[in-house]
Amino acid sequence: MKETTKKKESCIVLALDFPFHSPEKRDELLAKTQDVLEQVHAYVCAVKINHHLVLPLGTFDGVQKLVTQTHKKGLLAIMDCKANDIGATNQVIAEYYYAAGFDALIANPFVGWEEGLKPIFDTARRYQRGVLLLAYMSHKGANEGYGQTTYDKKTDTKTVQYVSFAKKALKWDADGVVVGATYPGKIREIHKILGENIPIYSPGIGAQGGVAEAALKAGASYLIVGRDITLGQNPGEAAKRLCSGIRHTR
Ligand code: XMP
Repeated sequence: MKETTKKKESCIVLALDFPFHSPEKRDELLAKTQDVLEQVHAYVCAVKINHHLVLPLGTFDGVQKLVTQTHKKGLLAIMDCKANDIGATNQVIAEYYYAAGFDALIANPFVGWEEGLKPIFDTARRYQRGVLLLAYMSHKGANEGYGQTTYDKKTDTKTVQYVSFAKKALKWDADGVVVGATYPGKIREIHKILGENIPIYSPGIGAQGGVAEAALKAGASYLIVGRDITLGQNPGEAAKRLCSGIRHTR
């Protein structure tokens, strides 16, 4: 990611999200997605794909084509599956996404380590790929889970959930941590814990109300941007504008 960011002079991760297309229009959706990627690739360092495309296009049909196109443009591909199941299932999920060519996937630390995320990290290391962990999501309800105060009986200490997730990211040697751009204060707090060891990826710019410059100043390394680019009249122009607008902030 560091190398690509330097080469492309962009820290933007394009979230390839589009509104619902009826199943008969899957070819149209794939063509539209490929077209947006062609228009935007010069202004981003990676592409993030999630259920928006896996569900209609299928992992080894349409989505793999997009991963190949992404790699051909010199960009990295991230699967935002927010893996969140028991270890045995998580491992199979990770194997499929890495086999499809994804360079990293996003996982949810709420499931814990043993028989939870450990199998994902083991699989990632075997394939030499990455794992990014959620720490504080970008939506309003994030506080109900990621913002809870937890109590550890053994040590008689209280910790805020996202602080504990940031510490786990260090302990588990995660490759990145996701913190919503809608909460720059949380980015700052989490960045203090992670230091320069683990980069912060920040979604929620524009459509969700987050501000790119504020997220970067607070310590985010990468900005995840979807609708502000993909839904505009001219996605290439939108990405270019965002990219040049933040160049001086980094
Ligand atoms: P927009 O259109 O709001 O899209 O720019 C944001 C993209 O990022 C995803 N998203 C998240 N992914 N943790 C994540 O791992 C988050 O807190 C988070 N918030 C948004 C969202 O699914 C979309 O693809």
